[in-house]
Amino acid sequence: MPYRRKFLTRAGYTTLSALLTVGFLQKDKQKEDHSKNRTVANYTNDDFPLRQLAAAKGKLYGAAISHDILLKEKDYANLIARECSIVTPAGELKWGATEPQPGEFTFESADVIADFCQKHNIELHGHTLFWHMANPDWLPYPPTLKMIERHVKAVMGHYRESKVLKSWDIANEIIADNENETDNPTYGLRKGVKPELIRDLFLIAASVDNSKKFYLNDFGIEGATWKSDRFLKMVEYLKNSGVKIDGAGIQSHLWFSTAYSFDEKGFNSVLKRLNDLEVKPIITELDIVIDAPLPDSIKKLDQMVADSYKRYLDLCFAAKVDTVITWGLTDRHSWIRHPDWMPRKTFRENPNLWKFLRPLPFDENLKPKSARNAIAQAFGQATSTPIRLG
Ligand code: XIL
Repeated sequence: MPYRRKFLTRAGYTTLSALLTVGFLQKDKQKEDHSKNRTVANYTNDDFPLRQLAAAKGKLYGAAISHDILLKEKDYANLIARECSIVTPAGELKWGATEPQPGEFTFESADVIADFCQKHNIELHGHTLFWHMANPDWLPYPPTLKMIERHVKAVMGHYRESKVLKSWDIANEIIADNENETDNPTYGLRKGVKPELIRDLFLIAASVDNSKKFYLNDFGIEGATWKSDRFLKMVEYLKNSGVKIDGAGIQSHLWFSTAYSFDEKGFNSVLKRLNDLEVKPIITELDIVIDAPLPDSIKKLDQMVADSYKRYLDLCFAAKVDTVITWGLTDRHSWIRHPDWMPRKTFRENPNLWKFLRPLPFDENLKPKSARNAIAQAFGQATSTPIRLG
């Protein structure tokens, strides 16, 4: 077992999470753990599942997961169950997976994840009802309102009674990357997408099941950019249209480098504008790549990734972010390493550098990396009230 649970049972963790912070546990240096004859001082944050460290601060931590890996790899499934209080299906709820033929729906793969969540008391984040990718060949982009209605009714309807599915990315990546890719300069929507269509999509969703949280999700909004400004305008438009929108999903596929700086001030202002609009910012797809110049060792690289996690999460937590989902849990399964999604030319042109793509908290052998410790520390230092994990 690569990653050991050391001294408390799951029930023990659950009770403790509501009562204690890890800081308290670490201060309690003399306390004996008689079952293993060790002192609590020997334990580090590694001993506490991230889900518990998050819960102690009223927050959720989780990862994007895939049903096929869940079924194939027991160690992976165990690690997800141990660390996560929320998960996102990486592909199982996308249009191509749920409605491969017009009007024919299947939830077999998504339900593997839903059942897993039920069994392990994990929240399920529904991703996503509307995207320009992972669609079946027959579907135009944007789909017609009729197609949207049929799809949303069936997919959301399937999970209406679900005890684990608590939130939906109603729309994903609707904002274009720059002004050349939109015919709508105000909201910057992808070509062909009208603001009214998105409004109607949210209205349809609310008519099917308004008991869930509704998010608008996007990437490239982690700073003051043309895109983040359009994203915020679209959120504001939805709010002003009287549509139910609970939160904004900030994907956070991040690149850090010593060659350029992260726009901390700009990102802070994005978070502030969302909070002012009473639209909750959550982090939905976090992973961190270190861009050139690369360090001369993996150890240094891992430390840079960890420092970047800490810096980013500190900033998020200061702005009341309460949910952090990484896009995967282990470097063994990261989309970043897939040739189709290979980021940026530095890596695409030189496969020897792929070993420097280590964007997630655990390594290929499911060993915790410094990034995991950084996430643990960020949760540990966040201020907030504990929640009870059921
Ligand atoms: C990615 C998955 O991780 C890949 O496995 C899949 O083939 C393509 O989609 N933004 C999103 C996610 O909103 O749905 C994407 O997931 C990653 C980028």
